[in-house]
Formats: sequence, C-alpha cells, structure tokens
Amino acid sequence: MSVDILNDIESFLTWYRINFGDTLHLNTDIDPETIMAQWEQPAPAAQTAPAPQAPVSQKKKTPDVNDTFRVHGNHAELKALYERIRDCTQCALSGNRKNFVFGMGNPRADILFIGEAPGKDEDIQGLPFVGRSGKLLDKMLFAIGLSRQDVYIANVLKCRPPGNRDPLPDEVALCEPYLKQQIDIIQPRLIVALGRIAAQSLLKTDAPLGKMRREKHTYNGIPFIVTYHPSALLRSSGWKQYAWQDFKKILNFMEKPV
Ligand code: URA
Repeated sequence: MSVDILNDIESFLTWYRINFGDTLHLNTDIDPETIMAQWEQPAPAAQTAPAPQAPVSQKKKTPDVNDTFRVHGNHAELKALYERIRDCTQCALSGNRKNFVFGMGNPRADILFIGEAPGKDEDIQGLPFVGRSGKLLDKMLFAIGLSRQDVYIANVLKCRPPGNRDPLPDEVALCEPYLKQQIDIIQPRLIVALGRIAAQSLLKTDAPLGKMRREKHTYNGIPFIVTYHPSALLRSSGWKQYAWQDFKKILNFMEKPV
C-alpha cells in the first residue's frame, strides 16, 4: 500500500474519531444527535479559522489587502477584484460601514458558502462569519471534515445593513455582480446558500426556506443548495437535524460530485 493511501486512511480515521468517537458506524446514516452534539462542542483549535483577534480598540479600521487575504493567501485575480471594489460607494450602506467584507477562504474551493450580509463583528473585522454564527459554521464544517481553508465564504452584500436589517432589493441588485465576479474567478462546483434571505435574494423567489432546501437549484449554472443560516440554528436548535441532512448532501457531493 502506498504511503499516500496510508496517509489518507490515517487522516480519515482521525477525522472520524474526532467526530464520532471510537465506535465505527457501518451505516452511513449516522444518528444526527451524534453530529448535533459535536456542533455544541468547540471546534478543535487547529480547525478554527479566524486567528486570535486583537481587542477591537486596537484594530485598524480598514484591514489592508494582506489582512483580508491572510487566510487564503494571494490569488492575483481575486486580489485585483478586491482592490477594484473595496472602496465601493454604489449604495448608502457604504456610508456606515467600518469595513467592506469581501469574503475569505480558498480561492480554488469546490464549495462556496454564501451568507446574507456582514453583521456587527464582520463589519469590525472585515471578514465574513466571525461572530457567534461563524463559530457554529466552523463546527458544522468540521463535522464534514472541512475548515475555512477548504471552502470559500462570502455574502450577498459586502457591507453591513444598519441594525442587521434584511438587504433591500436595490442593494442586492448593486452588490450581486461582485459576488458573480467572485464566482467566475473561484469557479466552485457547489454553492451553499446559508439562510432564507441569501437563497431568496440569489434565486429571485419568495419561496419559504423549507421549500427551497428540498428543491434542486442552480445559480449561474452551478448546483446550488439551500440550508439554514447558522444564526437561525442558534435560535432554534431543533432545526439542526435538518441542517445536518443538508450537510450530508455536501458530504455526498464531495464524495460523488454530480
Ligand atoms: N451573517 C451573515 O449572513 N453573514 C456574515 O458574514 C455574518 C453573519
């Protein structure tokens, strides 16, 4: 057996053990409670993407390009896009932002996660999903053997709406072309919309989340699945079992791309 295969087996077993303990589940339909319990635990330090953050008072107001790109390293095209759009003033949200939240992750990711818009923490740090819901997202990714370094994470809007209100249609219309340019560069094979607002904004529908997550979609020709926003799961943990069903679709996709 080659060293590569042994290494793969070792990493799989390590991942499996962290997620499911010492019991080998031969049935792949693993009890969602086992996974949900993992989502309650802190993700292991090595997998927790955001580096320790300086206290807010010590933060620079605007991260420079290297801060924004520190998680995924340099990627000329993505960086050029960032530099082109980071000072955007197309809509009123630019007037109140602390930071333009471009996105983060692996520029060659197969999977792109898209949230709604930056919240307070994201506006302060200039990075997506770094608050409480981001920590849950890290654990959900970890449960399927992924980290932020493996995927790309962005939002429909790049600037925080006041009071975290829903994005307005005009704001989506102005900001969505930026997301489309990111998609053209990253070329993910799967897009996962986090939450009703992100999904409705991109699919141009007012269908409820329950309906959207059961249906098959494409966005710009790319398979597109819809799941719960992590903040909804923090509010209503009963939905985690359904989110786990969606995350199993991501697992299946990774194993057997459509
Ligand atoms: N919620 C979102 O939709 N996006 C973020 O980046 C953070 C919270």
